[in-house]
Amino acid sequence: MTVRELLDTTSDIPEQAVVHGWIPSVRRMKNVSFAWITDGSTSRVVQVVLSPELGKKLTIGSAAKITGSWQTSLKENAQQRELVAAQVDLLGESDPGTYPLQKKSHSFEYLRSIPHLRCKSGAARSLLTLRSAAIYRLSDFFRTKGFLQTHPPVLTSSDCEGAGEVFSLARRRNNDGNGQEEEFFGDKTYLTVSAQLHLEALALAASRVWCLAPTFRAEKSDTARHLSEFYMLEAEVAFVNRLPQIMDLVEDMIRNLVGGTAGDSSIRADLLGRRRDEDDTTLDPAALEKRWQDVTEKPWQRITYTDAVDVLLKATAGGKEFKFPVKWGMNLQSEHEKYLAEVVSDGAPVFVTDFPAKLKPFYMLPNDSDEDERRTASCFDLLVPQVGEIVGGSMREHRYEKLEKAMAGMGEEARRQLGWYLELRKWGSVRHGGFGLGFDRLVGYIAGVENIRETVTFPRWHERTLV
Ligand code: 4AD
Ligand code: MG
Repeated sequence: MTVRELLDTTSDIPEQAVVHGWIPSVRRMKNVSFAWITDGSTSRVVQVVLSPELGKKLTIGSAAKITGSWQTSLKENAQQRELVAAQVDLLGESDPGTYPLQKKSHSFEYLRSIPHLRCKSGAARSLLTLRSAAIYRLSDFFRTKGFLQTHPPVLTSSDCEGAGEVFSLARRRNNDGNGQEEEFFGDKTYLTVSAQLHLEALALAASRVWCLAPTFRAEKSDTARHLSEFYMLEAEVAFVNRLPQIMDLVEDMIRNLVGGTAGDSSIRADLLGRRRDEDDTTLDPAALEKRWQDVTEKPWQRITYTDAVDVLLKATAGGKEFKFPVKWGMNLQSEHEKYLAEVVSDGAPVFVTDFPAKLKPFYMLPNDSDEDERRTASCFDLLVPQVGEIVGGSMREHRYEKLEKAMAGMGEEARRQLGWYLELRKWGSVRHGGFGLGFDRLVGYIAGVENIRETVTFPRWHERTLV
């Protein structure tokens, strides 16, 4: 029986329960011992009551199988149940003197220094549980909308975003420690920065496709929202005519996910019941609950980039100070994104649409009605409070000549590598669009954790690849 099953059982109370798990705490008293046992099915723990002899078998950090009866506690809170142990089998020893997760509060920063052990802490484990539940929910969402889940490649020869922030690949030829490195494929090969281009090829054959896959950026960012390796959820849809259809899909998906999370009693107990002392860089339960309500109950505004710049200019005139001065044509910085997300939708997410085309990659469909100087692209970013951008999406240029023209400014090599992408526009190309969602950012947002590094099991950034 898992800890979650045991804790969430309201009827059919089992007389005998067997739990396998790890022991985050042992307290020995003269006549009785208490321990906690936990197993990853939830971040909560089961309280175990043991005789002093059985209690002696357990140490903090050890693994055990405990057989006992699931009883209403005799003391204090009569609602609470505990496992009264009849038998303890020690499965894995632990030296209590050196165990790095002693029973006291541990900051996320400390936990980050022991990534191979940190999921033994309740706070980190609750994020594992949330992440897994979110994937189930999203898979279900896409299935009911008629999407195919696909697996585009991670190795590519193209830089989708054109920002040059790619990791390139080499092959090590022997293993004697001074192995030489050589290029393996005929072309320069990189870890993908986005699966979008390949996903477009699939959408132009299968109409509605999505994927959730590792994505890599070789930028030297040291922020709470950037990783070198992160998971991106991408979707691509053929036969859509207008950008709002893509925004509707994104909004529906996130409302559905957050609503489902808020309505899941076990996940609620994990996230809202976490120990504050263990967890000082997360939102408190009331603030987290309000965040979920803001997302699910309030309308999400959609404003153009041009209007967003006006909002920022008005704020500046009203005395709000930004590090980066605001003017039409600039990239929105995270401070601008966060401000817009706070004020425009009153705490709910906000879509900012139609950015200057010059700021955006070659594949975006321009708004043809615009004059050249102020040409915008049919695109959006979705911004949320405290994080900023979590999704970027657009209509794609589907016309051969126009796309060829948009690619004219690239180097010859880049154009050659994207020949297949251009070619897609020759045979049955249709209007299509899609988006990419920073999955780790979204998990952090839903869980109310400040730093994206907590949402990933083994986070990678330029200062960390070991473990
Ligand atoms: O805005 P981005 O760069 O868009 C694309 O790559 C498109 N090709 C996606 C598409 O349309 N299919 O990245 C999409 C999202 C961002 O909104 C952000 O949430 C996340 O990916 N993201 C990162 N997350 C963590 N660490 C990083 N370094 C990230 N860079 C982007
Ligand atoms: Mg973006």
